[in-house]
Amino acid sequence: MNGSAAASIVRLDTVDSTQSVAFELAARGAADRTVVVADHQSAGRGRRGRTWRAPAGTSLLASILVRPRLPQTLLAALSPTVAVATAEAIGLVAPVAARVKWPNDVLVDGKKIAGILLESRAGGEALVVVGIGINLGQREFPLDLSGRATSIALETGRAPDRETMLAALLEQFDAWRARLERDGFEAVRERWRQLSDTLGQLVTVDTVAGVAADLDTDGALLVDVGGSLKRVIAGEIGPGAPARY
Ligand code: BTN
Repeated sequence: MNGSAAASIVRLDTVDSTQSVAFELAARGAADRTVVVADHQSAGRGRRGRTWRAPAGTSLLASILVRPRLPQTLLAALSPTVAVATAEAIGLVAPVAARVKWPNDVLVDGKKIAGILLESRAGGEALVVVGIGINLGQREFPLDLSGRATSIALETGRAPDRETMLAALLEQFDAWRARLERDGFEAVRERWRQLSDTLGQLVTVDTVAGVAADLDTDGALLVDVGGSLKRVIAGEIGPGAPARY
């Protein structure tokens, strides 16, 4: 594969992580928007060093290689952009109301249905691998996730076809990415606000506790702490928040 090759979808059975495979392909010159999809991951990666577990065949496990065309100031906006695209895609294939939780989880009825991980590597040219895991067919979750995770099958009684989910995801990803690159963050930001499960909620992110007030112009969360707005650029909404978090 080389840089001028057409973007492609690489479908694999079992991998350690689709993220690792995407980075390997990138190192060999794979084109922007190359997609890696696997049936199963033996070492799926989650945010903040966690593992992402999914029994074989239950989920859409995808990594999209992005060679960003964005100015440095807009790079952080890719994360909420992917969250919006994923929520929209889920809503297109199943009759569920998918919402986004800062920074980029996708929830249905307060439970996590999809997780998103953006990774880049130091040095070399700008490259981001966007990893998306969408729970499609799980009928149950391990005890530590139960009550906090859901799948499309659990929500609707039926798992969508994985290829249908992938097609919807890529269509939404391409559309929202193009909008971000063409018009900047504002349209994405507005859609994120509409889909938000976070705004208006009491949240705790690391040492900052208050009411989630808005998404800033670069994707940071603005938290109202006793009347003054604090910016949170990274982190995770923690257990100090309402029980469903
Ligand atoms: C999270 O912690 O919420 C992010 C989870 C991201 C999981 C996806 S599954 C496909 C891709 N490959 C990985 O190893 N992780 C991401």
